[in-house]
Amino acid sequence: MLKPQKLVMIPGPTPVVRSIQDQMGRETVAFGDPDFIEDFKNVVKDLRELWQCSGQTFVIAGSGTLAMEMAVANVSKPGDKALVCSNGFFGDRFAEICKKRGLNVDVIKARWGSSVTSEEVKERLSKEKYDLVTVTHVETSTGVMAPIGEIGKVVQDHGAIFVVDGVAASGGAEEYVDPMGIDVLISCSQKAFGVAPGLALLWASKKALDKRKSLGTIVDSYMDFEKWLPVMEDPSKYWGTPPINLIWALKQSLEIIKSEGIKERYARHVRHATLFDEAISSMGFSILADEGYRAPTLSVYLYPGEFNIDDSKFRSLVAEEGAYIAGCLGDYAGKGFRMGHMGNIDKHILISAVASIERAAMRSGIKLEPGKALGKLQRGFVEESM
Ligand SMILES: Cc1ncc(COP(=O)(O)O)c(C=O)c1O
Repeated sequence: MLKPQKLVMIPGPTPVVRSIQDQMGRETVAFGDPDFIEDFKNVVKDLRELWQCSGQTFVIAGSGTLAMEMAVANVSKPGDKALVCSNGFFGDRFAEICKKRGLNVDVIKARWGSSVTSEEVKERLSKEKYDLVTVTHVETSTGVMAPIGEIGKVVQDHGAIFVVDGVAASGGAEEYVDPMGIDVLISCSQKAFGVAPGLALLWASKKALDKRKSLGTIVDSYMDFEKWLPVMEDPSKYWGTPPINLIWALKQSLEIIKSEGIKERYARHVRHATLFDEAISSMGFSILADEGYRAPTLSVYLYPGEFNIDDSKFRSLVAEEGAYIAGCLGDYAGKGFRMGHMGNIDKHILISAVASIERAAMRSGIKLEPGKALGKLQRGFVEESM
């Protein structure tokens, strides 16, 4: 049998479009090449401008977890008080990183499917003085988006450093550094930027850069803002070898973002996430994230109880039908699946992804009218272009 194409519909990495792939396939040049230096400068500048950051952006080789640790390393010292707002698996990762670095950590944990609110943060901050507050913008284990702008305001009034994990949000969910009171935003290349894995991205506010200076010498070298600042300001300087082809790929991703328009990109993610959720729930799957907190970049869908679905069998069937989806985490493992709908994915990809789920659902014994879920998407796409 002819094997179908396999769409990467896990919550990252996401499909990488041809023009971005081409950048990764280019012949690598010296990092001192004047054309590359110009390209690197433009990447740093575009990230600052698009995310409205009057401080500095850092682009280095690494993954999202490195960026999380780098954020904490540059704005805190052992013994500092950190408040971690955890909406799930990746929020808990921040708590672990902070604890390992010797911080004194308190955690506000939301029920999976809901979010820590600004009111809860305000109440906690009114009782105790914190140096650092962390929040996960989009929690990949639950598909929940936190109200980072509201929490940012509360944290700025308190005077703490506000660190936001934008790994599953940046480039797909509305996110601005200065206007949202963010001091360090971290992200990476393989999600809504639609680039292959390998780049850690950070935005630091002026307050965060001052905080780093006030710490003096820190034990970290590769992660030290002070080591990278001269390189980000002038990429002809050297600290660690830049991942040249990935930086070109990110440059192309930013060209795509600019030509779509960042506001329209955010709006498109909201429109298509709503349609995607409608399509999948019309087959009897339920959405884990509470209404009002649903992320525009990914969703977690739970199996309909009455059909006794075997999780790994279902996901293998979806793969046979042409799409990779991810299993659930924590207490939800085995009870549903996680799916990305972010980045440079067009109507063709969304239709094919839903069609794969629909065929796998029918093959798993779920009773449904063929084409019902696809119809939701089709109708929505037509309405959106009227
Ligand atoms: C919200 C969030 N934070 C952090 C990470 C860690 O990123 P990485 O796997 O690139 O280290 C992930 C990975 O999926 C994530 O979804």
